[in-house]
Amino acid sequence: MIINNLLISYTDEGQAGSSVIIFIHGFPFNKSVWNLQVESLRDKYRVITYDIRGHGNSDAGEEDFSIDLFVNDLISLMDALKISKAILCGLSMGGYIALNATKKYSERFDALILSDTQCFADTPEAKEKRLKAIESIRKDGVEKYAEESIKNLFASGSFETKVNEIRNVREMIVKTTEQTLCRTLLALSARKETCHLLSDIKVPVLIMVGKEDKITPPVAARFMHENIKGSLLKIIDHAGHLSNLENPVEFNARLKKFVSSVY
Ligand code: MLT
Repeated sequence: MIINNLLISYTDEGQAGSSVIIFIHGFPFNKSVWNLQVESLRDKYRVITYDIRGHGNSDAGEEDFSIDLFVNDLISLMDALKISKAILCGLSMGGYIALNATKKYSERFDALILSDTQCFADTPEAKEKRLKAIESIRKDGVEKYAEESIKNLFASGSFETKVNEIRNVREMIVKTTEQTLCRTLLALSARKETCHLLSDIKVPVLIMVGKEDKITPPVAARFMHENIKGSLLKIIDHAGHLSNLENPVEFNARLKKFVSSVY
C-alpha cells in the first residue's frame, strides 16, 4: 500500500469488523517478529503488523528519519486501512512510536502495550554509542553490526533454546540497508523523552519486559509503571530485549488477557 508516497508493507489478518490491534516492531527488525502474536489473536480480533519505513519490505524514501515521521506513517496507515481506533503494541522503538502517537493522537487509541521500551531519551553516552555504531557500520559493514547487536539482544539461555529465532533476527538485521540503519540510529539518538507525558495517559496500559533485557531493562519498565496510573507490569522470565520471541507463551498469555479486558 502507498502511504505518504512510499510503499509500506503490512499484514491485515483476523476478523474484519472486529476490534483492532496494531503491532509496531523494534530496530532494526521487521513485522515478522510479531508472527506468533498475530497467530494468537487473529481468531477474535483484526490484527495489523507493518514494516516501518526502510525496514523489512517497506520503502525508505529520501527524508531524514525521526520518531515523528514514524508516528505520521502509523496514523496514515490507520487512515488508509479505515481504522479509527485501535490498541497499539510497540516493542522498544515501536514503544517510542506508540508513546509519541498516544501523545499526539490520544483519541485514536483505546489501550497501549509497551514492551521492552522506555520513556527516557538517550543519555550523552548513549548518543555517543550510536555515532560509533554508525561509524562502524560504514567501516566494517552490516554483518559485523549484526553480530555485535545479537550479543545484547537476547537472554543468556536463549542462545541455546532459541537458535532459529536468533538466526531469523540476524537475517532481519543483515537485510536492513546500511542507509536505513544509520538514519534510524540518528532518529533514535535525537528522540525526546516522553516521561513527562506518562501521567496524562488515561487508557489501560500493559507494560512487559524481559527479565534479562539489557537495552531497556526492567528498571525502565518499572519507572513507566510507577508513572502511568493503573498500569500493569509483567516481567517476562527467560527473556531479554525480544521478550515476545524469547518467551511467547508468557508474553501471549498476558497479551491476550489484557486485550480481552479492553475489548
Ligand atoms: C530497539 O529494539 O528498537 C532498539 O534497541 C531501541 C534503541 O536502541 O533505543
